[in-house]
Amino acid sequence: MTLHRAGILGTGSAVPETILSNQDLENMVETTDEWIVSRTGIRERRIAKPGEATSDYAASAAERALAAAGLSADEIELILCATITPDMLFPATACIVQDRLGATKAAAYDLSAACTGFIYGLATASAFVESGMYKNVLVIGADLVSRITDYTDRATCVLFGDGAGAVVVGRVSEDKGILAFDLGSDGSGAKNLYVPAGGSLNPATSETVEQRLHFIRMGGRDTFKFAVKAMSSSMERAIASAGLSLSDVDVLVPHQANVRIIEAACERTGLPLDKVIINIDKYGNTSAASIPIALDEAVRSGRIHPSDVCVCVGFGGGLTWGAAAIRM
Ligand code: UT7
Repeated sequence: MTLHRAGILGTGSAVPETILSNQDLENMVETTDEWIVSRTGIRERRIAKPGEATSDYAASAAERALAAAGLSADEIELILCATITPDMLFPATACIVQDRLGATKAAAYDLSAACTGFIYGLATASAFVESGMYKNVLVIGADLVSRITDYTDRATCVLFGDGAGAVVVGRVSEDKGILAFDLGSDGSGAKNLYVPAGGSLNPATSETVEQRLHFIRMGGRDTFKFAVKAMSSSMERAIASAGLSLSDVDVLVPHQANVRIIEAACERTGLPLDKVIINIDKYGNTSAASIPIALDEAVRSGRIHPSDVCVCVGFGGGLTWGAAAIRM
């Protein structure tokens, strides 16, 4: 039973200062700016410095979301960090963020759903708030994808970047808030997008390092086809379960993996591109961070207005997908 309506109280994001441009990549692998821009829409991405960790950007994004929500860290009861590049295998990056923020009353754990992680986190937070179990939950999507990217593989290294985004989910009035979710998974596609070693199956050895098994492996074309179908059908299901139609949507915030995927998904559903937030040119694919970074930039730049219907949609490793329909 839903006791409270859950909504987004504030957003924040943080990205590294260092820019890795397409021209820089031309000097690292056999590629061109023209190929990268025309096939992906990406012009540059941000890369964290050595010694930095996912929690550094997660904590900065979280601090900004807290300030936007007008809340202090001790009002947060749960921190969820969606990431596939945690600081360490354990403890959870969410716990490191909890300490950094001084959120002494918060439980904290990580959530692993790759690029869909932020939507999964939002759904989890929303359920906690709706049930009355927690009042304010911090949801973070943060990844330093550069740490698991093979910079000798031109098929993947041009795609990814680093960053973090966060939102505070809390109680809102009945006329707004998170209206509906659609979440799904298909583990049969796990090996389309994965890191082969470093887990219990293939623990790290000098051989796994030599064979470059700690980096992302991706079936690009299969992932592309899956992504277009998953994004379009997931957003349609979330819009329908919210009791809305496509024309009610004011803004779409999609996972930023490839501008051609976003365009194809919008063409399939009939959503005009002028309603879509696209910032992939600046950041590339930042995995779980991509949706909350785009959401935060859209809120701060005034592209999203109060009462707008905003749909967030993503897909990723797992395979996983998800969408959320929100009245801001
Ligand atoms: O968060 C989810 C993460 N992943 C994704 O969403 C990725 C989804 N897939 C894609 O975005 C696209 O499949 C890619 C951008 C990865 C590739 O684009 P594509 O249009 O599917 O190209 P392709 O893989 O069919 O490759 C076409 C050609 C190949 O050469 P040949 O075999 O035709 O001679 C590739 O070797 O492009 C070549 N190629 C490159 N050329 C220059 C692949 N990467 C590069 C590159 N620069 N960086």
